[in-house]
Formats: sequence, C-alpha cells, structure tokens
Amino acid sequence: MAGRIPPQFIDDLLARTDIVELIGGRIQLRKGGKDFQARCPFHDEKTPSFTVSREKQFYHCFGCGAHGTAIGFLMEYDRLGFREAIEDLARRAGLEVPTEGAPAPAGPDHAPLYAVLEQAAQLYRGQLREHPQAPQAVDYLKGRGLSGEVAARYGVGFAPSGWDFLLSRLGGDPAGRERLAQAGLITEQDGKRYDRFRHRIMFPIRDRRGRVIGFGARVLGDGKPKYLNSPETPVFHKGRELYGLYEVTQARRKLERLLVVEGYLDAIALAQFGIDYAVATLGTATTADHLQVLLRSAPELVFCFDGDRAGRAAAWKALEAALPLATGNQSLRFLFLPEGEDPDTLVRAEGQAAFEQRLQKAEDLSIFLFNQLKETVGDTITGDGPMRLTALAKPLIDKVPAGIYRDTLNARLAKLTDIAPPPQGRTAGPRRRAAQTQQPTRLSLVAQAIALLLDRPQLATEVDLLPDDWRRLDNPGVQVLAQLLDTIAVSPTINTATLVERWREHPHFDYLQRLSVAPFLDTVPVEGRAAEFIGALQGLSKEVRDAERVRPLNRRSTADWTEEMREQMDREAEQARIRRH
Ligand code: UTP
Ligand code: MN
Repeated sequence: MAGRIPPQFIDDLLARTDIVELIGGRIQLRKGGKDFQARCPFHDEKTPSFTVSREKQFYHCFGCGAHGTAIGFLMEYDRLGFREAIEDLARRAGLEVPTEGAPAPAGPDHAPLYAVLEQAAQLYRGQLREHPQAPQAVDYLKGRGLSGEVAARYGVGFAPSGWDFLLSRLGGDPAGRERLAQAGLITEQDGKRYDRFRHRIMFPIRDRRGRVIGFGARVLGDGKPKYLNSPETPVFHKGRELYGLYEVTQARRKLERLLVVEGYLDAIALAQFGIDYAVATLGTATTADHLQVLLRSAPELVFCFDGDRAGRAAAWKALEAALPLATGNQSLRFLFLPEGEDPDTLVRAEGQAAFEQRLQKAEDLSIFLFNQLKETVGDTITGDGPMRLTALAKPLIDKVPAGIYRDTLNARLAKLTDIAPPPQGRTAGPRRRAAQTQQPTRLSLVAQAIALLLDRPQLATEVDLLPDDWRRLDNPGVQVLAQLLDTIAVSPTINTATLVERWREHPHFDYLQRLSVAPFLDTVPVEGRAAEFIGALQGLSKEVRDAERVRPLNRRSTADWTEEMREQMDREAEQARIRRH
C-alpha cells in the first residue's frame, strides 16, 4: 500500500488550492457578501443555503449541515477516497504526491493489472455476440429476463468453454501470463495453466472509478459452484468492494439512498426495473469497510435480506458492523423479504412501485435491534427479563459513538425495561434532538473556545499573555484546544481548512469539523469574537482555580499531578511533532 502522505504536503496543497474555484468548476456559485452561495449539491432545495468561504477555504450548507474543506468536498461530491482526493488536487496544482519516510518502495504499479482485466472484460463481452456458443448464453440471460440494455450497462459477458480462451489471447508471452495469473484470470495446477472462468456468464466488478477489478461468474443453469468469483488479488478485495456502486453513481448524481442486496443479479434486475440505486456485497457478510464506503455515498441505507433465518443472521451481522458508525445523522434500515423471494424475483413479479412500497416499511436500525433482542429474551417485562434484555443490549449500545443517538437508544432501553435511565439520559432523547434540529445547541466553554478559534485562528494572539491555568483541566476538549493553539503558534497564518485537515486521522476530526461551522458562531458578532474567546479561556481558568480552592486537600496532589500531566502533554505534543515531520 502507498505510504502516508506528509501533513506538510497537505498544508501546501490546501494553500495552493482555491476552494471557490474548485467548487465553482462543478456547480454555479454566486457571490453574496463575503462568501459565495449556491443551491446545495448534497440535498434538494429551492433557495441557496450552501456557502463557500474563500477566507476560510471551507464550505457549509445551513440546510443539511454538509461542510468541509476542498479535500472533503471532493470526497463527498466526486465520491473519492481521501488519497484519491489528494491526488486529484495535486494534479490540479501540478504537484507530485510524496509519501512519508523512505521514498516508499514506489508501491507496485497496478496499471498492467487493470489493463489486462479491462481487456478480459471486453473479450468476454464480445463473445456474447460472436462465439458459436453465444446463443446458449443469450438464451440463458433472456430466460432470466435481462434486457439487452441493462446487460450492456453492467458489461455482462460470456466466457466460452475450453481451457485457453484468455490464455491464448492475452498470455502469448511470459509477462502476459504473469499478468493473467496476478489478475486471477488463470490458475495453475500440476504445472499447467488454464483459464479460471469457463462456460460462464461473466459479471465484471468495477471499482468506484469504473476500473474492472474482478469478475463474478455464473453457470448457465444448475451446475456447481453456482458462482465463481475472482480470488483476492492486489486490486480486488471482496470484503471492501460493492458490486454495482460505480454503475449506480453513473446513473445518478445525487444519491439519496442506497439499497444493499446480496446477489449480482439482484442489483441488475432492480436497475432494469427503475430501482437504479442497488449495490450487492460479493458473497461476503457486510463489513465495516463496506459500511464506510456506503455511508460516505448516501444519507440513507436500506439493507435487504431474505426473511429466513440465514437472512436474519446476515442482517444482524450488518447491524453489528454498523453500530460503531451509527450517529443518527444517517438512516440505516433493514428490509426482510418474504421467504423464497429475492429482490430479483420480487421486482420482476410486482414491479418498481410495489417494491419501493416495501422499502418504505423497512425497519429502522433501532427497531430491528430491539425487536431482535426482545425475541431472544422472550419475556422482557417480568422476572429477570428486564435484566437480561439490558445485559444483551448494553454492550451493543456502547458500540455506538457517544452522542445523541446513543442517548436515544439508552432511553429506549430504559423505557422497555422500565429502569430509570441515568439522569442525563432521561431528558436526552427528545429534548436534545429537538435542540439539534432547531436552535443552536449550547456549547461548553471549551467547545465555544475551539469554535471561535477554528473560525479565526488569528485569535490565538489575543491570549498569548493570558494565564494558562486552563491547560490543567482534565478534559479531552481542553487538550484539543491546547494543541490547536500550539499549531497556530508555529504557523501563525494558517487558515481554518488547513487547521482542520491536520486532524483528519484523529478521532476528534468530526467534532472539530462540526465546531468549525457551529451555529453558535452566528450568535457572536464579529467584533465581539476576540472578547468572547478571551472570556472563554478565562472562564476555564477560573474553573480550575475554583476546583482547586474548593478542594484544598487535593491541591498538592493536583499540583503534582499537573506536573505529570504537563509531561504527558509535552510527550504527546512531541510525538505529534514527530508524526508531522
Ligand atoms: P444467491 O445464491 O442468493 O444467488 O447468492 P443469486 O444472486 O440469487 O443468484 P441467482 O439468482 O441464482 O443467479 C447471492 C450471492 O452470493 C454469492 C454471489 O455473490 C451471489 O450473487 N455466491 C453465491 C457465491 O459467491 N458463490 C455461490 O456459489 C453462490
Ligand atoms: Mn436470485
């Protein structure tokens, strides 16, 4: 794998990129005051609430809350990975992306693999017309109800029988054979090489950029194995890819929803019937990698499974993988089909409208979670029922990131088991949720300070001479604030985007991104920001001193502990510096 990209390079790249130009090249921006405005590309709206700030090099939508840097924008809008987004920006800036440490063993060049896979896909496609056995394959596809149009869209092909269809065409020399082997297209046994896929319908699997990375191959009828898939290769990782995602993104600009199904032919049949937002896992359980890609691609996910026990078990696996990523900002739902049906048979039988009707009734993750647990426990009301339900639910709920969504789940559990929830949990659900969608949430002092600082890093100079007792507070936010100030001390002209990007790999990255556009900022007039920032830090310092005064006994130990803390923080800062350079 390619090495880490040095943060310094990312800083430079952002400094050379103008987010207004970047976004303006994709959607139409209009100048409105200091910033630029547009109708948000991430949700439907009539009046523009999407703004791009040249000064901060940041975008933000007041309607749907989307926000981020130039890198973030490319990741969201072009659906690129982090590295791909960097590469894209680097190309625009005419820079070469360096990798950290030793001039990274220049990561093996996969271009020849992509090329041979693409050639194979084209050859297989051609055989569907040209090969003497083609009518049999075409009949099979017709029998399955596939239209020529959708078969073409998915690049469906045919691997004829025989041992050397590809081998004879693409394996003329040792290098060619080596490429075929590496791409998983030929296998070797007893020193003899031959084509892996023979007499099968071929479904090319593409990555998000549209490159063919592997194949699924089905027998024409009832033979076994029903499907043969490409093995893991340097470019194909089953647990990471989703069949049809590229085709879906080609069909639609704005993805409101993704439907996750189990079979190649399910995804294709759904597309043929107008449901052009379905993707399929590749015969594996839904993994955390899948979920990350899926959640980045659409705000709503519906997982579609058989209604039988195996289907429920597969759905449960998907749920477990989803919990650590569930924030309640995105909708995750589960749909169970009648036994004996799959999306392919069902959509053919009842059509688009009826199938989409079913989607409306998919169970929300929380409903599925509690229903399933209730089923396991049986009686949840009397005896040790409530306790057992809690024992099962608690570790699962604890996987959900701390926040409103987790509070809601805890509140639901409490209600189900009639156990009084912890004090903050009781009101957390409904009240805090309302606050999130309505008025700006009240931020803690630290959060206010961070938000103000992110908005205008130059505020740092205002507190140079202030006492910094606040650094003694044992609070993760305080450490973030301290690090931010340290960064600004080293790079006094840094802007919001660059500052935030430095945290991308840190667990607090999302928190920082959110704070940088916190509605709270609108409540503080520009001319009052410096005072507000100073006030916040003074408030924090006062908290420290008050705490130490109230507990005089703790004072000495606090002072000792503070030394220790300082050392610890110095160590961390040093490590961060090492990592950065
Ligand atoms: P299914 O058995 O549900 O098949 O496998 P299907 O997709 O409905 O296929 P048809 O309709 O009979 O043609 C679902 C998925 O599991 C993987 C494939 O990815 C398949 O699409 N699978 C299945 C295999 O990898 N190998 C197999 O032998 C069977
Ligand atoms: Mn099927």
